[in-house]
Amino acid sequence: MLRNFARTTERLRDTGGAKWAIHQRCRERQQAGADIIELTIGEPDIPTDSALIEVAARAMRDGRTGYSNGRGEPDLIDALVERYRRRRTTINDNNVLCFPGTQTALFATMLGLTGEGDGVLVGDPFYATYEGVIRASGAHPVSVPLRKNNNFRLCAGDLERAITPDCRVLLLNAPHNPSGAILDNGTIHAISVLCEKYDLWMVCDEVYEELVFEGRFCSPFDNEAFADRVIALSSISKSCAAPGFRSGWAIGPADFCDAILPLSEAMLFGNQPFIADMTAYALRNPPSTAMRMRADYQRRSLIIANALDEIEGITPFRPEAGMFILADVTGLGLSGERFAWSLLEAGVAVMPGSSFGDNGDDLIRLSLTKSDEEINDACHRIKRFVEERL
Ligand SMILES: Cc1ncc(COP(=O)(O)O)c(C=O)c1O
Repeated sequence: MLRNFARTTERLRDTGGAKWAIHQRCRERQQAGADIIELTIGEPDIPTDSALIEVAARAMRDGRTGYSNGRGEPDLIDALVERYRRRRTTINDNNVLCFPGTQTALFATMLGLTGEGDGVLVGDPFYATYEGVIRASGAHPVSVPLRKNNNFRLCAGDLERAITPDCRVLLLNAPHNPSGAILDNGTIHAISVLCEKYDLWMVCDEVYEELVFEGRFCSPFDNEAFADRVIALSSISKSCAAPGFRSGWAIGPADFCDAILPLSEAMLFGNQPFIADMTAYALRNPPSTAMRMRADYQRRSLIIANALDEIEGITPFRPEAGMFILADVTGLGLSGERFAWSLLEAGVAVMPGSSFGDNGDDLIRLSLTKSDEEINDACHRIKRFVEERL
């Protein structure tokens, strides 16, 4: 029998599992009893607020378990309109589409905006799933270097230099994973003007919006002048420590939402009403979860930054937001990948920067989602590893 799979599967073949090889090895070893501190993925370490779980459970008991529709439950759409109107007064229900998480929203958006041969500009390093999200439609990533000496903030000059005639979209992630960089209004404006000049869509992944430590969250979405080209994507995964609920959304121009709706219907045939109820409740009654996470992650980022600063050959980059911290290890004469695999033997699992694009080879990424005690212990292990084994 012929085993012919579509070209999409080939395009995605190397964009998934391989990036997480160290994480998977860490889990296997842990299951076999190894003592490894896992600083790989960004799973919130705070439980989902019990009031939200209660709303979802009550909704299930009340029979909110039927089919929904492709756009989203009316009450959740209302709650999203209320929230996004605080950022832009013209937002209406026809600007909203609900999805199971930012990830699906990204996938549907990219499939709706790009196809074979199109370029998607993306700051590099970038979130590990972006490559698959971009390549699925036949488009390709066009890398915009995020520079260490600019603390990984995207800069308009680098963006303009990277633009090629086939580019159709800028995929903007601020606050940024893996670096935690945020962008100021001046930069956002300069980037938006370029997108207008080159007629690019701006797809803004804002999943870390509520985890800014210091400074202010700024976004192209907030400027009415660029409203016809900006799509903001987010979810309750990080803000409410509820990634398993899979509840997110896209807010964009009405014609964008209309065009994407059939795609969303074909893919999902609607979300779960009981999760929509819980999400609407969370948007109207934000739990203190994000506030707690902000304090915890900022404090832990300082613990790690201070500890790694003491180690010759490692340069940490203090994040301004998010759940991660990056460090440059090339001063040790190793790539991020080799360092991360060797460090696993010393009982700490971190992500190699190479999992986040072509511009991350020198880097490792450490997650801030473990207790202070584990973070301190991990720092001691890293120090000992560098002093004794390198
Ligand atoms: C930048 C970024 N975008 C999207 C996601 C996925 O978010 P969601 O759980 O809403 O699908 C993540 C998860 O880590 C992320 O870091």
